[in-house]
Amino acid sequence: MNEREGVRGLDEPSDEIPVRLGDRSHAIRIRPGILAEVGAELAHRLEACRALLVADRTVADLHGQALRTSLDAAGFSYRMHLVPPGEATKSLEELGRLYGTLADGRFESREPIVALGGGVVGDLAGLAAATYRRGLPIVHVPTSLVAQVDSSIGGKTAVNLPLGKNLVGAFHQPIAVFTDPELLGTLREEEYRSGLAEVVKYGVLGDADLFGFLETQATGILERDATILTPVIRRCARIKGSIVEADEREEKGDRLLLNLGHTVGHALEAVVGYGRLRHGDAVAVGTACACRLAERRGELAPEARERVVALLERLGLPVVPPGFDREIFVEHLRRDKKIAGGKIRYILPVSVGSARVEFVSEEEVLSVV
Ligand SMILES: NC(=O)c1ccc[n+]([C@@H]2O[C@H](COP(=O)([O-])OP(=O)(O)OC[C@H]3O[C@@H](n4cnc5c(N)ncnc54)[C@H](O)[C@@H]3O)[C@@H](O)[C@H]2O)c1
Ligand SMILES: [Zn+2]
Repeated sequence: MNEREGVRGLDEPSDEIPVRLGDRSHAIRIRPGILAEVGAELAHRLEACRALLVADRTVADLHGQALRTSLDAAGFSYRMHLVPPGEATKSLEELGRLYGTLADGRFESREPIVALGGGVVGDLAGLAAATYRRGLPIVHVPTSLVAQVDSSIGGKTAVNLPLGKNLVGAFHQPIAVFTDPELLGTLREEEYRSGLAEVVKYGVLGDADLFGFLETQATGILERDATILTPVIRRCARIKGSIVEADEREEKGDRLLLNLGHTVGHALEAVVGYGRLRHGDAVAVGTACACRLAERRGELAPEARERVVALLERLGLPVVPPGFDREIFVEHLRRDKKIAGGKIRYILPVSVGSARVEFVSEEEVLSVV
């Protein structure tokens, strides 16, 4: 079969994914070319007013003008706040600088912040919007694959402290999310791969159709063909959106499933060193480990584990960790907030397309990394 014939296999015709959260309900609009329509789309939701655009310099250079033109055309005025690209931007210092721009511009509580960028800009701008004058509207225009399938959905915002990631944050739902799969064309290869690990994760934990589509359409995915990526991103947004609808503030545990691959992934990132092992690569290794552990327990068929490993490899993702210190790894594992009574709360795949939360021992985890 021609690989691309299967495009119809993932039925996601609507460009609008609703996220139903009472008075915090909003829509995620996902469509190639929507960047040029953000102004017009926003004008349906807000009276034309002033906005603060937040972007990192890389993304502003590549895609800022298209967004500005679309806001202009819809009668919005705006100020621009640029930040340096990279995780270090999720800091109290950068948050303070952003508050400074808001105060200097005398931003009022109805004037939105528009975050154009990856998860770093979304998390920083989201936290500023959650807190400045006790809350401004935030609009996400995610530009990285991680942001499009993950960080722009669910309302989590945060900055880092020197002692740990995401330690200062808030929940603040956006009033709208505009996701343009065409923007992924300019993303660096390793950043794109990072997002693919999260996409595979969604397939494994909850969607056999998505997983099958990724298998048959791997070439188009790697070529970043927007016609193939669009239904994939829509499906991922739908999965995360529905988990968030069921458990907005991570109180019931439903949201724990999204941690598939992350228990081992986070510990590996910490022990190998942030920057030496990228988050997405760590999640890919963690997902493969979770499959091996589930197989050992007899809960996942060997063929299912083989399919997951084969897809990760096909997409250029690692499935075994680089060398690391096991003792320090265990220390990091113990620090994970999902530990309860000496046992690790762990997300185990039970088939391609479903997973459950179970308690496992440190030894079991160590035996599969
Ligand atoms: N809030 C949440 O629920 C949530 C979920 C997952 C991750 N996160 C956070 O997201 C962050 C990671 O996000 P990320 O991977 O998007 O990182 P990022 O924002 O640093 O973006 C990655 C890099 O890609 C560049 N970039 C982004 N879009 C581009 C484009 N279209 N073309 C060219 N370059 C582009 C950026 O300049 C940056 O250098 C982490 O801080 C993580 O904690 C938050
Ligand atoms: Zn992740």
